[in-house]
Amino acid sequence: MKIELPTRRHTTRLAGALAPLLKPGDLVVLTGDLGAGKTFFARALCRALGVPHEVPVTSPTFTLVHQLEGRLPIAHADLYRLGSDTADASEGELSQLGLRELRAEGSALLVEWGEPFLEALGGDALRIHLITCPPDAGAQRAAVVSATGPRSLVLLTSLPSPATLRASSGR
Ligand SMILES: Nc1ncnc2c1ncn2[C@@H]1O[C@H](COP(=O)(O)OP(=O)(O)OP(=O)(O)O)[C@@H](O)[C@H]1O
Ligand SMILES: [Mg+2]
Repeated sequence: MKIELPTRRHTTRLAGALAPLLKPGDLVVLTGDLGAGKTFFARALCRALGVPHEVPVTSPTFTLVHQLEGRLPIAHADLYRLGSDTADASEGELSQLGLRELRAEGSALLVEWGEPFLEALGGDALRIHLITCPPDAGAQRAAVVSATGPRSLVLLTSLPSPATLRASSGR
């Protein structure tokens, strides 16, 4: 499903539509180029999940994982640095982060650059691929949302339609 995100408000609306659907143990993987809006989306989702405004939601590029508390526990990870390591090393480092355990204990996982580690994270991910386009190309930012398992498919099919999301953003 492709959702156009011409403004930051549209991205915030998409995050706001996903937040109430999330349950403990859900996995959301954010992909897209540098600056595509993964952290922006993650922050909007955390706010919509009830993380207070005084708690900063920043890119955990160096610490790799931030644990946050909204209406459910959230583990926000950025695995960019792991992706540049060799596969074996990064799988080992990933298991040290304990993301799978956090997921099993009921945290929702929100993972930037998580694509290479989908299976290691336990699979069944809602993938949100964020696309940026050069401003002069006349094309817009967009999200392509897909599911890799039964639970994430429920999330995907429970989201409002792209037309609804687009229309509601104007208000
Ligand atoms: N429609 C939009 N949706 C999301 N972000 C937008 C949009 N329009 C402009 N932006 C801006 O784009 C930037 C996205 O940066 P962000 O840090 O979220 O990207 P990122 O994908 O996490 O990058 P990185 O891979 O470096 O971590 C922000 O400064 C945000 O304000
Ligand atoms: Mg980021």
